[in-house]
Amino acid sequence: MANITYIESNGQSTTLQLNEGWSLMQGATANGIDGIIGECGGSCACATCHCYVDEARLGELPAPSEGELAMLENVAAERRPNSRLACQIKATAALEGLVVHLPETQE
Ligand code: FES
Repeated sequence: MANITYIESNGQSTTLQLNEGWSLMQGATANGIDGIIGECGGSCACATCHCYVDEARLGELPAPSEGELAMLENVAAERRPNSRLACQIKATAALEGLVVHLPETQE
């Protein structure tokens, strides 16, 4: 279980308690957070779950796979050093309190 805070581009902040193993994309789409679409259902094939991870904690996450890095080339909003795909980040207790910012657009 981990509390994850999503901050949308309009500043709206929502904190969700995600079960272990849920992706940050699944949590967002199941709870009506508009800033994440998750069109491909989490198979790393759409890049509509782009998010910006709190830079101070970026190093705590497993490194992005080749597939994620390739999809990050296709994000609609600006790609930044802390850009990740939310479907590829699984909630674990170690991520307690993580903050992710959502881009203005996903497509
Ligand atoms: S949900 Fe499609 S790439 Fe993440």
